[in-house]
Amino acid sequence: MSEHTPRPGSVALVTGGSGGFGRALAARLRDADVRVVLADLDSPRNRAVAEELGVGFAVLDVTDHAANQAVVAAVEAEHGRLDAAFLNAGIAGSGTTDALDVEEYLRVVAIDLHGVVYGTDAARPALRRAGGGSVVVTASLAGLSPMPTDQAYSVAKAGAVAFVRSIAPVLHAEGITISAICPGFADTAIIDPLREHFAAADFPVLTADEVAAAMAQAWTSADPGAAYVVQPGVGAVPYRFKGVPAAKTTAGESARIPTQLMGPL
Ligand SMILES: NC(=O)c1ccc[n+]([C@@H]2O[C@H](COP(=O)([O-])OP(=O)(O)OC[C@H]3O[C@@H](n4cnc5c(N)ncnc54)[C@H](O)[C@@H]3O)[C@@H](O)[C@H]2O)c1
Repeated sequence: MSEHTPRPGSVALVTGGSGGFGRALAARLRDADVRVVLADLDSPRNRAVAEELGVGFAVLDVTDHAANQAVVAAVEAEHGRLDAAFLNAGIAGSGTTDALDVEEYLRVVAIDLHGVVYGTDAARPALRRAGGGSVVVTASLAGLSPMPTDQAYSVAKAGAVAFVRSIAPVLHAEGITISAICPGFADTAIIDPLREHFAAADFPVLTADEVAAAMAQAWTSADPGAAYVVQPGVGAVPYRFKGVPAAKTTAGESARIPTQLMGPL
């Protein structure tokens, strides 16, 4: 991705915004004169993060479709526009592999996958009204390289990447670029339960700011539907998806997919 900065005065919404990546991103964007609203679960700690950064705060549980729409409406009412939606809220599973914990599985998928789908749906009309814009989804390397110790997280993040790739051409036709960021392990609260293993194995983890830099860059420079791997010592690089074998006609030629199924490509 090339280096561009967002237009000063533009408006960004960051879900899960009080967490590690959200904070680092908000500080970067604020310093670039972007008007930032962090959206997160309601708690004194989450509100304090926004206050300390000097940015806005909105209460949001991303699993609530109507609440996503209400937050976007509130941002537009206060700031007059929305230029970028960073759909970043997420949780990991507990890593228990003995048997399926149905409640935990549904919770992880509701936040990490449905939250992205609902957030995109809510931001889309506002981004159109702004004359176009960006959706940047924080997926994970686990969405490209599944984790044997967290199936729910792997399913949800792979689903988020698939959603981004699926809707990208449709949004692109409306002037909206959607992309996914797929970081490896990074130094935020989400890896607290694993931290000692990384230290013991001398395994490098990303800083939150390295990931925030890739997120900010994706706003202005991502290709529609791209998934950017972020790894220590590697930076942000587009993941190259392999194609699938095309169906063969009776004549043995590669069949063309009916144009009605292709969307606005
Ligand atoms: N840190 C890593 O190693 C890593 C690697 C790859 C991807 N990610 C992803 O990055 C994103 C940000 O995570 P982070 O590392 O900053 O962790 P974090 O735990 O610091 O932040 C996650 C934030 O999401 C919020 N959140 C949780 N449930 C929510 C809900 N229902 N509605 C709204 N907000 C909710 C939390 O309150 C928290 O502020 C997540 O999607 C995570 O899966 C993290």
